[in-house]
Amino acid sequence: MPTDPASRRRFLAFLAGSPLLAASGLDPALFDTLLGTSTRADTATLDLAERLAGAPGTHTALQPPLIASPADALDVFDFEPVAQRNIPIAHWGYLNTGSDDDATIAANRAGFDRWALRPRRLVDVSRVDGGVTLYGTRYPSPIVLNPVGSQKAFHKEGEVAVARAARARDHLMVLSTVATTSIEDAIAVRGGPVWFQLYHQSDWSLTKQMVQRAERAGAPAIAFTVDLLGGSNRETMVREARRDTRDCIKCHLGGPPLPGVSGRVDDRDNRRKPNLVGYRALPPQLEQGTPTWEFVDRLKQSTSMKVLLKGIVTGEDAALAVEHGVDGLFVSNHGGRAENSRRATITSLPEVVAGVQGRIPIICDGGFRRGTDVFKALALGATAAGIGRPYIWGLGAFGQDGVEAVLALLRREFEVTMKQSGTTTVAQIGMRHITPA
Ligand SMILES: Cc1cc2nc3c(=O)[nH]c(=O)nc-3n(C[C@H](O)[C@H](O)[C@H](O)COP(=O)(O)O)c2cc1C
Repeated sequence: MPTDPASRRRFLAFLAGSPLLAASGLDPALFDTLLGTSTRADTATLDLAERLAGAPGTHTALQPPLIASPADALDVFDFEPVAQRNIPIAHWGYLNTGSDDDATIAANRAGFDRWALRPRRLVDVSRVDGGVTLYGTRYPSPIVLNPVGSQKAFHKEGEVAVARAARARDHLMVLSTVATTSIEDAIAVRGGPVWFQLYHQSDWSLTKQMVQRAERAGAPAIAFTVDLLGGSNRETMVREARRDTRDCIKCHLGGPPLPGVSGRVDDRDNRRKPNLVGYRALPPQLEQGTPTWEFVDRLKQSTSMKVLLKGIVTGEDAALAVEHGVDGLFVSNHGGRAENSRRATITSLPEVVAGVQGRIPIICDGGFRRGTDVFKALALGATAAGIGRPYIWGLGAFGQDGVEAVLALLRREFEVTMKQSGTTTVAQIGMRHITPA
């Protein structure tokens, strides 16, 4: 079931006209009222519709027509149902989950609706350059492929297909600590810099080796993720895993995910995560508690790579980050899968921009699905915009070609928005181009 309001509306429109729904005797208006509060309510309502329509246990009978090739896609949402068809339901749950009732996923999307565009006319926009520079490297687009773990759970080529797409379209890619491809392989396939996303380990000796390895491999930057330090409660992931009839233990030694546990399932599964294996057994230096700013200082001292923090959402933390010498920030709530704040990242962005005062780059992520979303973030002061699920929909649907198509669609939409706003470079985009809706 699509979680995005636009896809949901399209799906509902399809369902409302479906002979199956009519045959079920369910009133489409009632159906419309029932849907839309949370992923959990959506799933329950769909299950009801399926039972009434006589298609138990499968969404197939009620699916809208799917695109057959990346070229058929009109927007990134077109990839979602194709990916859902291809990806096993437990893995789909891992992709789709937020925390608690998934409300922050919806909040991230709704945040963009609070801003409207102020288009400008009669400016020569025949040539437009949407490129940005990050730490000396020029990219033709501000759209960043954010770290997403375990990509071979979505397509057999996983991060390798994504790195190929990043190379073909020249986008910045950030590789997760829990990727199913090593940082060395990702950089080799990308044929250019890939940033490394860091999940710290309870043993500093191991964390330090991971950082040094990323640096040796040629990563110019690491993004230390700070939004899961308190854990997260991912109910949709657990619920969907329970619906999967396959034997999880065949691949995951720890079995299916457990309630109340975020990301990691079981340490024994690290053998499937190349960035977590192959380190020397040095005398352990165990962390005391969870990381604080002291850890950030240590991280900075341990590497000459740029160090970014991923998951900052307040002006206070942004200012502290600059004080501690951090080189950049991701305004992020982990795509609504960290704390269930119900606050959109686009709403958090202005206070982070104020805290940073232009001193370091800011990447904003969370719910970016349209070129207009990217434009609004840049207008509010972001340097670039990160995407997670949309490119995984492309990957799950059509592998590398799907990822490339998602990037091309978002880039085209963004450049059209730039032109409609009378801006020909990213530097020209500012607050005067948007207004509260
Ligand atoms: C399935 C999945 C796995 C993710 N894995 C990681 C990860 O390993 N490290 C990390 O810092 N962020 C991770 N994220 C968060 C993304 O980097 C990003 O913040 C988020 O997906 C952006 O929101 P969006 O999915 O709405 O575009 C993950 C997100 C998803 C959906």
